[in-house]
Amino acid sequence: MTDTLPDLARVEDLSMNETPFPPLPEVQALIERGAATVHRYPDNNARPVIDALADRLSIDGGRILVGPGSAGLCQHILMALGRRTEVVHPDPSFEAYPLLIMNAGARPVPVALHGGRHDLAAMAAATGSDTRAVLLCVPNNPTGAVLHEDELVDFLERIPPDVTVVLDEAYREFVTDPQVPDGVALHDRYPNLCVLRTFSKAYGLAALRIGYAIAAPATVAAARMVGQVYFPGALGQAAAVASLTDGAEAQLRARCTELAAARDALRGALLDAGLSVPPSEANFLWLPLGTASVPFAEHCRAAGILVRAYPDLGVRVTVGTPAANQRFLAAVTHFGPAPCGS
Ligand SMILES: Cc1ncc(COP(=O)(O)O)c(C=O)c1O
Repeated sequence: MTDTLPDLARVEDLSMNETPFPPLPEVQALIERGAATVHRYPDNNARPVIDALADRLSIDGGRILVGPGSAGLCQHILMALGRRTEVVHPDPSFEAYPLLIMNAGARPVPVALHGGRHDLAAMAAATGSDTRAVLLCVPNNPTGAVLHEDELVDFLERIPPDVTVVLDEAYREFVTDPQVPDGVALHDRYPNLCVLRTFSKAYGLAALRIGYAIAAPATVAAARMVGQVYFPGALGQAAAVASLTDGAEAQLRARCTELAAARDALRGALLDAGLSVPPSEANFLWLPLGTASVPFAEHCRAAGILVRAYPDLGVRVTVGTPAANQRFLAAVTHFGPAPCGS
């Protein structure tokens, strides 16, 4: 390991689950033009985004909440849901969940994954009269595991209808497994299901902080009251609307298909190299390296590649450009004996 980062120009950041693709040219041009109008406040109701989403998803605008990324929305919804004190969530999962839950004045109730997947039986058992909400993350960050429609429906049948189930679909666009349900379609059948989606990942707008939730109208109305005002900004709203046109969606879908193929190819190469890598439906892979996780991440860092280590559990690596993936693979093959720790 080295004490300092290598030359920054040579660092590949595969630690943040960002898309390796630059913004679509038309979106970039729109943002550049928008620079001339940043002295104006944005539409506080994000009406153009809601209208574009209502059209694309064929859903009533009263069920759509637009906000500062899906993480911000998650917090607003948890704040809006009332007085019960506990929020059940998978663990490990998106590392911000405990903070978002505590910011909303509730107590996190972590439920350990089972074999890298949500333990839905244990999550249902942890849900009781104090439960304000249950968080699900599909695909799960960091393991990439999904839930199939029958499992999710069975779970929703077991959860009391007055408990909100928040389904975080931040990585849904990378899913290729046909058995993974569309959360928005499920919300039609289970109004206590709230779906979180983001423009940060597949849409490549992470820096603009914009996402949306689909939820029961009462939840949307309550979350609007607690949410930040004048958020998201005008450039984020304009970029989101431009990304929801047929032409942009087609380009973004093609990118996701390419990325999913690169993910599967990288996994294949890592398996060939002797590592244990569970299947992933997201834009990242999970290496359950156990105690080798931190040394592995430090080895990658010394080679100019940033990955995310979860001490004693594993390492998450984002699928990057073909060059970054090759560089990561080359680094892996130079990591000491038996890197898989399995
Ligand atoms: C599961 C999950 N949800 C939400 C987010 C945050 O997304 P946003 O940029 O929309 O706040 C992330 C970011 O890494 C994530 O992994």
